Amino acid sequence: MKSDLNILGIETSCDETAAAVVCNGSEVLSNVVSSQIALHQKYGGVVPEIASRAHIEKIYPIVEEAITQSGLDKNSIDAVAVANQPGLTVALIVGLTAAKTLALVLDKPLIAINHIHAHLQSAMMDTKDLQLPAVALIVSGGHTSLYDCENILELKLLGSTIDDAAGEAFDKVASILNLPYPGGPSIEKAAASGNPKAIKFPRTMLEKDSLDFSFSGIKTAVLYYCQGQDMKGRNNSDKMTEKQIADIAASFQAAVIDVLVKKTQLAADRVRAKTILLGGGVAANTALRENLEKMAQRTGRVLLVAPKKYCTDNAVMIASLGYHKYKAHIFSDMSLEAKAGTDD
Ligand code: KG4
Ligand code: ZN
Repeated sequence: MKSDLNILGIETSCDETAAAVVCNGSEVLSNVVSSQIALHQKYGGVVPEIASRAHIEKIYPIVEEAITQSGLDKNSIDAVAVANQPGLTVALIVGLTAAKTLALVLDKPLIAINHIHAHLQSAMMDTKDLQLPAVALIVSGGHTSLYDCENILELKLLGSTIDDAAGEAFDKVASILNLPYPGGPSIEKAAASGNPKAIKFPRTMLEKDSLDFSFSGIKTAVLYYCQGQDMKGRNNSDKMTEKQIADIAASFQAAVIDVLVKKTQLAADRVRAKTILLGGGVAANTALRENLEKMAQRTGRVLLVAPKKYCTDNAVMIASLGYHKYKAHIFSDMSLEAKAGTDD
């Protein structure tokens, strides 16, 4: 009797074209990611039309490579899982069309994956017994949200950003400081030699007990700091010393992390979480991982974090969550659409 389930995952929600084959939800048979960073770098952010065109060029070779690297025959793929929301519609639609075509040609089921839920799946992938209830913090370029995780397939939104996502704030502050795109890794690198207490940037907590986030204020505070309080000055970051840039980066990073950790603790207390899950591109940040770990230990909880290589966009997380949806018989048909927003 055949027991292994091999899921092909496809991801094109933003600026990574990715495909992967995962066996039984956690055994990674292949993981192919083609990043478009070089294409978007000169614009300081992702340009949707450029992203879409690059996905169209790359999607079939990347899928082909993922299947070849898995060592499996095409017919041993049991289902095709694809991120259909949230993201750039013009980008999502490329992966979705490829996934539908493959599902039809291979005569295998199609599985719709919520990209945000998939980010959290990367934190749980290697865990045999997840202690529930869990609180999940997802921090990426497009999203910053807290979820009550009742089980792997059921997430209840507790709060999210009312303006910029945390990753977006990293990207924008890096651009103010003339650091290369993507901003997260650049800020982290610069912050390593800076003093996190050098500048007191605001920690926006919103109303007492609110589990929502706001990161546009801190971005503006960095801009004020660089241009002078009246905003009339030039952005002086090109004249700043490396030490000054490092101090701003470290102080900004510390303020963002402070808010993320405090809100996560508040959410964890509220749902009496035994476990804290962390995923998304910003979860690659070492200081964030360390600070959340300290908070988890202090409050008697277990922190599960996505391995660094699966924090930013990839298709392993899509295929892994696809396995659990397959087991729960949650399939989609050919009417599946790409959505910019998220249903849950
Ligand atoms: O999850 P992801 O690859 O794409 C989205 O779904 O948005 O996240 C990308 C974001 C970018 O904003 C990037 O600057 C940020 O994650 N990021 C980081 C780090 N690595 C990537 N932020 C802080 N520290 C990092 N080391
Ligand atoms: Zn993502």
